[in-house]
Amino acid sequence: MRFSQDEFEKLKNHLVLYRCVMKDMQTRVDVLQEDFNNLKQYNPIEHVKTRLKTPESIARKLNSRGIALTADDARQHLTDIAGIRCICSYAKDISDLAEIFKRQPDIKLLAEKDYVTNPKPSGYRSHHLILNVPVHLTDRTEHLAVELQIRTQAMDFWATLEHKARYKYNDAMPLHISQALEKCAQEIADLDERMYEIQRSVSLEI
Ligand code: GTP
Ligand code: MG
Repeated sequence: MRFSQDEFEKLKNHLVLYRCVMKDMQTRVDVLQEDFNNLKQYNPIEHVKTRLKTPESIARKLNSRGIALTADDARQHLTDIAGIRCICSYAKDISDLAEIFKRQPDIKLLAEKDYVTNPKPSGYRSHHLILNVPVHLTDRTEHLAVELQIRTQAMDFWATLEHKARYKYNDAMPLHISQALEKCAQEIADLDERMYEIQRSVSLEI
């Protein structure tokens, strides 16, 4: 099922707002990077990726959840139309960054999923915040949901491969592949921890 022409036009207007909220989030991250560099001579945010769901992908998700294909339903029910991913150097940076966003007074936390402390059965690790972020327009202020994913480079490396494998096998991944991935996820978590310990002892010695 696809959006009717009418709803598609409405959705395009909503997507303009989502593009604005992603710009706002990108700026908030830029500001943090400036401030980290200035104050601490250490910037934990290695890089940032943003993505906006396409109308096709929005329709697919609404269909799969049995929700009506309207622009308002998409806005009301989907919290990941706008996505931003911050890739950090060390696992310790993840919760620090999550706290920074949770403290911003004009942002409301809608949901939090800490898959770093509680990894998914697949081995997936990442800290997700669903944030309600204001966008100030010419005549009004709108609030939009944004999904912020925070993970280390190693976790991102893993998630990219696992996503590809999941896609290739159409969600029916052979057991030996899912077991191998789960093992890698554990090893990556250990590696992240050891890298952090080395970094800490190096910075203490300088
Ligand atoms: P979605 O409907 O997929 O958005 O999931 P959800 O609403 O149940 O939320 P969840 O926090 O589980 O997942 C949100 C997003 O995190 C996904 O769209 C993926 O980008 C990522 N993610 C979650 N679980 C996995 C996983 O096992 N492997 C990978 N590669 N990514 C995952
Ligand atoms: Mg999603």
